[in-house]
Amino acid sequence: MKILVTGGAGYIGTHTCIQLLNGGYKIVVIDNFSNSNPEALRRVEQITEKKIKLYRTDLLDQEALIKVFEENSIEAVIHFAGLKAVGESVTKPLKYYQNNIAGTLVLLEVMETFEVEKLVFSSSATVYGNQQCVPLNESLPLQATNPYGRTKLMIEQIMEDVYQSNKNWSIALLRYFNPVGAHESGLIGEDPSGLPNNLVPYITQVAVGKLAKLSVFGNDYPTYDGTGIRDYIHVMDLADGHIKALEKVLSTRGVEAYNLGTGRGFSVLEMVQAFEEEIGKPIPYEIKARRPGDIAVSYADPSKAETELNWRAERGLAEMCRDSWNWQKLNPNGYEKTTEKQVTS
Ligand code: NAD
Ligand code: UFG
Repeated sequence: MKILVTGGAGYIGTHTCIQLLNGGYKIVVIDNFSNSNPEALRRVEQITEKKIKLYRTDLLDQEALIKVFEENSIEAVIHFAGLKAVGESVTKPLKYYQNNIAGTLVLLEVMETFEVEKLVFSSSATVYGNQQCVPLNESLPLQATNPYGRTKLMIEQIMEDVYQSNKNWSIALLRYFNPVGAHESGLIGEDPSGLPNNLVPYITQVAVGKLAKLSVFGNDYPTYDGTGIRDYIHVMDLADGHIKALEKVLSTRGVEAYNLGTGRGFSVLEMVQAFEEEIGKPIPYEIKARRPGDIAVSYADPSKAETELNWRAERGLAEMCRDSWNWQKLNPNGYEKTTEKQVTS
């Protein structure tokens, strides 16, 4: 029996593939490489010394997906494949609805045909929208503030409906907070194309000299230093959370949402300071206007995942900074232009 990983070549997918292979699972990956590089999976194989069966295909290609299910005995699916850039989703909403929602519908239909009804889904803390009370727990009313967030919210609702129609389904909706860090080897990590949207890759690209300075989006939020507060979580903790969620869906039925966060928030300026300590030099920054759509504070109440999945984040901010920086300095240009020497050193 195998676990199908959609979007397994991406940032969170590759780290989860490592923990799946280390846990003895056999995996099949499908990815269209729209936001990733086959080199990432080659390095997963290098780290684990195990082989990955890869299908280079689009989730929207139903015939190709049926072939994957025909050729492999799939026991459960971890569904990462999706587009994730909030800003782009505002300018190209149809692209996001088509890829994320239509892609998920194709997947669910094929799963149902093959009676594979066990699923772990990449949702996001973005489904909480702009809440007044933190920490955020899973029973809060949901609201999304941009098309990307709405795709996650709609997919959660679709999955709930699918379960109501057929109680054999077992689905974990994992609401990630802010994934950062990388595998400790420095061989895999986050490789954004173009200018990074997110804080941590931006900081590390400034530190490595690719970008001149960080823009801090707003210092007039109602927080202790005026900058936004987020719950940053090490991607290897996130990967471990998927293994626990997989164990849960394999042994139960139902639909449950789980926050995957640490429960602790850090401000933008605290993140800058933590990276300065790790790297040993200042990170130049300037204060700019707020980024439209940003909220002041977001951090998880992770207690449901602790109680029901027996999972909690183990890695602290120092490890997040160390591993993000290790990946960045060993791979200044990501997967694309890293020389073999850098890979093996
Ligand atoms: P990523 O872009 O690195 O990985 C997504 C992978 O899916 C990529 O390899 C991409 O090529 C693939 N993909 C996209 N559309 C596809 C399609 N139609 N068919 C086949 N493959 C397709 O992103 P990530 O950071 O690893 O995120 C994984 C999932 O987690 C996404 O669904 C994302 O929305 C969600 N998520 C991410 C974050 C974050 O900050 N990284 C936060 C919350 C939720
Ligand atoms: N920030 C800056 N400068 C930058 C980038 C970010 O000051 O160049 C600030 C933001 O204003 C925010 C904080 O750093 O206060 C974190 O911003 P990110 O862009 O790293 O992360 P977000 O919390 O905005 O969003 C992330 C993902 C979303 C996901 C959300 C919740 O990008 O996809 O976490 O999981 F929905």
